[in-house]
Amino acid sequence: MEMTNLQVFLDIATEAALAAGVILQDYLGKVEDAITEKGRPGDLVTAADQTAEKAILAVINRHFPEHSILAEESGKVGNQTSQYLWVIDPLDGTTNYTHQYPCFCTSIGLLVEGEPKVGVIYDPLRGELFQAASGLGATRNRRPIRVSSTTQLSKSLLTTGFAYDRRETSDTNYPEFCHFTHLTQGVRRGGSAALDLAYISCGRVDGYWERGLAPWDMVAGIILVREAGGKVTAYNGSDLQIDSGRILATNSYLHQVISEELMQVNR
Ligand code: IPD
Ligand code: CA
Ligand code: CA
Repeated sequence: MEMTNLQVFLDIATEAALAAGVILQDYLGKVEDAITEKGRPGDLVTAADQTAEKAILAVINRHFPEHSILAEESGKVGNQTSQYLWVIDPLDGTTNYTHQYPCFCTSIGLLVEGEPKVGVIYDPLRGELFQAASGLGATRNRRPIRVSSTTQLSKSLLTTGFAYDRRETSDTNYPEFCHFTHLTQGVRRGGSAALDLAYISCGRVDGYWERGLAPWDMVAGIILVREAGGKVTAYNGSDLQIDSGRILATNSYLHQVISEELMQVNR
């Protein structure tokens, strides 16, 4: 894969994420009458999700009509045989958004032959643009970023989340949350998986785990964390399987200890 191609993909993903950001800001506080549940209780969709996704798809389709797309609100669209798969969450943190809780973003990732290669995460309220591409590094607002250097679990700050199926499964993530709350300086539950990953890439948090995720929650964040020097795997440290919905992402120094503790609780 040529670096110049990846830079072009990154630029177009950025154009699309910025366009979505304008829409998310426009609709903020105006979607109360148009909030619907998609399936599971609490899994919401609004006009903001749908309009932002349309804007992103328009940009990607205009530049790469031959590529395949997996987007949260539209599903799989485009050429299904392409080696390029754009994986898009137009609004990550919809529950926060509907409450005007200021923690949400747009996440756009690119898989090339199944591997995360490009990622853009944009938080329009803070004006924070996270970008990464394989071999090109990771940036926040165009300046290079790096994961934290925390090496002790007792000095770490972690994040996690609770999937929409939490009322239907025994694998709730509640025991893990309690376990790490005892062992660390704290565990945050921000409500946006993509921002959780972006915050590892810039050193604000030291580790993140979650289950029940969709590919669009994580593809962009995976490449951001890796390019910023962090590590991303399955809970047990083996190769990440995006379709498993489970992810462990850390600053790399804490990876083994967090993985071991997770495996003790999540058997
Ligand atoms: C959700 C958020 C949340 C995570 C959920 C996701 P959505 O995405 O990323 O942090 O805990 O599992 O589904 O529905 O706001 O796009
Ligand atoms: Ca999401
Ligand atoms: Ca979403």
